[in-house]
Amino acid sequence: MKRENVTHLLATDLDGTLVGEQEMTAFLLDYYKDRPYQVELVYVTGRHYASTMDLINDEKLPMPSILISDVGTEMYDFNDPALHERWKKTLEEQWNPDAISRIVESCRGLMPQSIPSTHRLSYYAESDEAVEDVKRKLIDSSVPHKLIYSSGRDVDILPPNAGKGEALSFLIREKGWEEANILVAGDSGNDRDMLTLGYPSVIVGNCQEELKELPDHPLIFRAQRLYAGGIHEAWEHFFEKAAAVK
Ligand code: GLC
Ligand code: MG
Repeated sequence: MKRENVTHLLATDLDGTLVGEQEMTAFLLDYYKDRPYQVELVYVTGRHYASTMDLINDEKLPMPSILISDVGTEMYDFNDPALHERWKKTLEEQWNPDAISRIVESCRGLMPQSIPSTHRLSYYAESDEAVEDVKRKLIDSSVPHKLIYSSGRDVDILPPNAGKGEALSFLIREKGWEEANILVAGDSGNDRDMLTLGYPSVIVGNCQEELKELPDHPLIFRAQRLYAGGIHEAWEHFFEKAAAVK
């Protein structure tokens, strides 16, 4: 189902980005209500579905149009349930979780996360060295995968064509939203591939170390302000500056 009339879209991570300081989240959402256009919300999170719904309830966040969960391995369009199956199908071909977990089990220093997800394997790492070791062994094995290390702790191993960036570009193509004003927002390593898709993007002021290393680019705005305050700062920078001088 195509929604042609989307002119503005915020594709945002939740923990540490939209969520982190309740007053700033409320301020940003009120600011969007005051715009003369509608801002479509897409949440792109590392959490699994149930955990995301708990966060939405606890923080009283609006329901998004689309939820991309599980580090870009699950996608829920509340108006088009079939989108989920289409996305999962594209991931199936190159997904070999048994081979991957065997390799990880042969390494030390990674503890499995207890999650209901089917298209990612996630772990807590004891050290950077443990992650390097797993990375090396997975590359040597030639089993197709994508490994993402975030916040000095979380290791997600995904199908090679999954991740927040791949999921978001699939969604934008499916919906025909290429011409919309899109802002992508994040704070940690699992956001890296969506922040570098080539859309206006913001790294919020409280970001993790791994995003400080990202090369500068005119479409990547490094906010001074924290959490949703950084999203607001970037929104003004990309979409409202031109309006203000008119
Ligand atoms: C969230 C998820 C966790 C994942 C991490 C990094 O914290 O709950 O499963 O590993 O994001 O993507
Ligand atoms: Mg985050």
